[in-house]
Amino acid sequence: MILCRTIPELHEALKQQQSKNAGSGTVGFVPTMGYLHEGHASLMRRSASENDISVLSIFVNPMQFGPNEDFDRYPRDEERDLALAGQNGIDIVFMPSVKEMYPKAPLTTVFVSQVTSRLCGASRPGHFDGVGLVVSKLFHLVQPDKAYFGMKDAQQVAVIQQMTDDLNFPVEIVPCPIVREPDGLALSSRNVYLTAEQREQAVMLSRSLAEAKQHFAKAGITAADIVEQTKQMIESAELAEIDYVELLHYPSLDLPDPAAVLQPERDTYILALAVKFGSTRLIDNQLFGYIGGDYHV
Ligand code: PAF
Repeated sequence: MILCRTIPELHEALKQQQSKNAGSGTVGFVPTMGYLHEGHASLMRRSASENDISVLSIFVNPMQFGPNEDFDRYPRDEERDLALAGQNGIDIVFMPSVKEMYPKAPLTTVFVSQVTSRLCGASRPGHFDGVGLVVSKLFHLVQPDKAYFGMKDAQQVAVIQQMTDDLNFPVEIVPCPIVREPDGLALSSRNVYLTAEQREQAVMLSRSLAEAKQHFAKAGITAADIVEQTKQMIESAELAEIDYVELLHYPSLDLPDPAAVLQPERDTYILALAVKFGSTRLIDNQLFGYIGGDYHV
């Protein structure tokens, strides 16, 4: 495995790996912010199994954090991350500094409209501009054939797919299933922030989504019914503070008429939630109905 901290090193490593594949190896790419867990490991393994060369990026991107968010305290563990990358089939790790990625303040914005107007796009203003910018830069630098993203960040997948289509990036976006703890909590680098009591109550997020799945199967159910039931269940965890619970079409992220009966045999829906436990904000989601487009949860 080759570790690159600069863009010239990355280009050299890609050239070296390509020459081992007679210059025509396929490149799989797993962009991350590090502090890797089994969710990232599943993306790395999938990339390694589907491509000749697999590249992992580890970069905590300041451009996607708001002024009062956790950029400074975002967990980092370089040694452990490199060990995990090596164990999961990665050939090249790109771990640039902020200066390497942004030698001067960028004046270019990558703004994807509509799909960013609700959920995390609404509660974290500017977040997806930062994601769009860094992912565009990384796609240009790595030039992958396929890029792997976890469906825990389902809105991010929708935004990146839209950006890729709009800007003709020659890359296939591969949405991958959410990986969960045995009790259902979706894996996240931010789970380490939780106290024991918060961790215990955080299980209510995946439980409420599982419960909603049962309700969703009932005839005549509306978006408003599902959202209300889900909110009530989350609120039963006394440390939970809801940021949003929304049921939307996926991947357009349009709002269905809250009072209209859902059409699961025809439409794909997402029930998405963001909930704070103290200062830790967790997200989770569940897709329902007709699941097209190779999406998995
Ligand atoms: O999902 C993440 O970890 C980040 O948003 C990404 C895609 C690596 C961009 O910084």
